[in-house]
This record gives sequence, structure tokens and C-alpha cells, in this order.
Amino acid sequence: MTRTDKFTIVHLSDVHATIGELLYGQVDGVARIEQVGEYVVAAGVTPEAVIVTGDLAQRGHAAAYPAIDRALTALGERVGAPVFTVLGNHDVRAEARVLDGHRDGHYRVTTVGDMRIVLLDSSTGELDAEQLDWLASAVAEPFGTGTIVALHHAPVPSPLPALSKIGLRRPEAFADAIAGSDVRVILAGHYHHPMTALYRGFPVAVGPSLAYHQIMNAGPAAVSGHDLAMFSLVQITDDQVSTAPVSLQSPSPLFSIPASPTTTAPQLRRTP
Ligand SMILES: [Fe+2]
Repeated sequence: MTRTDKFTIVHLSDVHATIGELLYGQVDGVARIEQVGEYVVAAGVTPEAVIVTGDLAQRGHAAAYPAIDRALTALGERVGAPVFTVLGNHDVRAEARVLDGHRDGHYRVTTVGDMRIVLLDSSTGELDAEQLDWLASAVAEPFGTGTIVALHHAPVPSPLPALSKIGLRRPEAFADAIAGSDVRVILAGHYHHPMTALYRGFPVAVGPSLAYHQIMNAGPAAVSGHDLAMFSLVQITDDQVSTAPVSLQSPSPLFSIPASPTTTAPQLRRTP
């Protein structure tokens, strides 16, 4: 893989899908999965994988998994890429077994071309000794162009005081398990705000939520969300990892000009 040979991931997180009612009276997680497909196709992005880092269903809405599974299957077909999911703290392990890839358990390793993808289960807030041992052996030998690790709980804290203690418990045990491995990026969610970090040399990309976004100035004594549906585009090349958070809701454009084939961004034109 070279700089021009890209591995692009549509990174969704924290869908919080419901059944029988909308989340907070207005958020339809399943419908938003469908909107992501429309958006990605319109953007001209051709991903190699879709990865969803947990909180697929809102707590108490485990009956939504079949609809979530259908929506994710349709999304994969629309964007032409396989879809992988991990569980979050809202998810229910037993009911989530109907999801594609979860019948035999909630953590596994798979490959897409030359990329290895390790899918972890942190739905309890931590990775137990058995899963950590399995993880260490899964990444013990390098593979192809490297490894992507996906889990719900980020191994680094949010800078927001109200969220600073809800990350992965015992993150150092997780870091020990992947130390020295070919992991290119760690994908996570849970905070409902995008964030990038470096942890023991490994890039960490925390994706925003498809359901709602943290109100970042709600203060240290409150957790509050507003209706903003976002996901991320994560791109890996030979020597780069980049993340680009994207909002499904966008205001009308200020301007629109043809993109130049020789530049990565159109030049601003002086307006009258
Ligand atoms: Fe969540």
C-alpha cells in the first residue's frame, strides 16, 4: 500500500437505535444509517470497510437489532464495502447475536484484503484477561499492511471533566496487549464527540455519534446532548493515518466551484 493506495473506513459510532419510539422524541438511528449511505455515495467516497464502534441500540431497545442489521447490510451494499460492528455499554450481548458476525461471539479478527481488523467487546467497560490474552495472540505476528483495532471505549480520556472517567478501564492492559504490534489505528466511540489521540505511539480515532453530540460547554456537572448526527472518514495509507469528522446536517453552501484535479482543496476565490 502506498500513499495513493488508500484504505478508507466509514467509521460510525453510537447509533443508539430505538424501536417503537424515537430517541428523545426525534432521533431515528436506523434511518440515519441509511442517510450515511446516501452521504458517502454523494461524496464520491469509495470505502474499503464500514466499522461501527458500539452503542448500536439504545439501552432498553434490544429488539432493534434485526432492523439495525438490515440497515447496516443495506449500507454495506450501497457503499460497496463490508460492515463490521462491536458492542458498546448500551448493547445487550444476547440479543446482539443476530448481528452479522456476532453469532459465535462478540470479539473476533478478520481481514479485508491486506488489512487485518480486530473487533473487541468492551461492552462491560473493560477487556477481561481472557480477551486481552486473545488480543495479544491475534496481533502477535504482523499481517499485510497492518491492523485496525475497533472497540467502543476509548483507551484515552475525554478532555471534558464530566466524561473524563468513563473511558476504557485498565487501558494500560490493553496497550500492553498490542505493544510492539503492527496496529495502525485504534477506532473507538463512546464520548459522542470526535477526538484524536496518540497512546503509546498508537493513533486513537474516537468517532462522533450518529445519534447526538455532546454539548461541549454543558459544564463539569452535566452531560447534555444536542441533535447533531456525525460520523468519520478514516483513511490509512503506507505512511499516514487521517480522520475527518463529517456531519449529516449541513447548512446551505456559501460557494461551490469545480474541484481542481491537481489540488486537494479548491482555492478560495475573491468574492465581490
Ligand atoms: Fe453512546
